[in-house]
Amino acid sequence: MSVEIRIPSLLKIGGGAFSEAGAVLAQLGCRRPLIVTDPFLREQGLAERLRKQVEDAGIRAEIFYETVADPTSAVVDAGVRVFREGRHDSLVSAGGGSPIDTAKAMGMLAANGGRVRDYKVPRPIPLAGPPHVAIPTTAGTGSEVTRFTVVTDSETGEKMLIAGGVLVPTAALVDYELTLSMPKRLTADTGTDSLTHAIESYVSRKANAFSDGLALTAMRVIWRVLPVSVREPGNRAAREAMMLAATQAGMAFSNASVALVHGMSRPLGAHFHVPHGLSNAMLLPAVTEFSASAAMDRYADCARTMGEGR
Ligand SMILES: [Fe+2]
Repeated sequence: MSVEIRIPSLLKIGGGAFSEAGAVLAQLGCRRPLIVTDPFLREQGLAERLRKQVEDAGIRAEIFYETVADPTSAVVDAGVRVFREGRHDSLVSAGGGSPIDTAKAMGMLAANGGRVRDYKVPRPIPLAGPPHVAIPTTAGTGSEVTRFTVVTDSETGEKMLIAGGVLVPTAALVDYELTLSMPKRLTADTGTDSLTHAIESYVSRKANAFSDGLALTAMRVIWRVLPVSVREPGNRAAREAMMLAATQAGMAFSNASVALVHGMSRPLGAHFHVPHGLSNAMLLPAVTEFSASAAMDRYADCARTMGEGR
């Protein structure tokens, strides 16, 4: 049986990739991108830097700053209105998982109409959205390479999972220099999320040879390097290794699946507003204990790969 692999058609990985946003948009034929980001990156000046780079490439861009942590359907609807009214032809998301997830849902509604809840798993997404260039600033949710978005229904409070190959961004600019200023707590939370992606995709029933290679590489690196990047935020080598590993873990779970930790993490996050990586960290030991006997050889591979077993 074959597996269907979906990854962005263009990945720029390494320090300085951020500055290639304009060139990438030009390459994709985009003329009127809408930049999707959050108030934090506005304050940091990163959103304006991005706009300037895009405009230096001769492309006029506008910015939608209103994304929130844990994206909501109300914010997605507001973003779609701005996208339509501005006659935009493409999306550039910059930030942690939330702006990227918001832009994915905006593109989906721009192409297909309706409301986010109409596309909740297992409902299909018929049409692909406009080109989407994703720029992660954490290492990371992996959202820049995945076929998933998580949006909270503003009316019911439900944290909805939306999935489809058409949600995979067209291009991702994976630039570790954007993570150098991440605070300790965020580094730990988002890095633990990445580790969970790697482990869960490896023990998933949907694991395959493509996802396995990425998952093992990612967990080996994250286990060794995450404590370094928490202790030494300015350690460029550690930040660079974490950024690539987070993207690899994203490609792994997007082409296999996550499992019980993520299944339980969503409602936990929705009810108690716990950061996603932290709720994963709370669940990972208990879920591993519960699940290990059902996939002992796979969990043993994980332990050996992380240098915790023989
Ligand atoms: Fe996650």
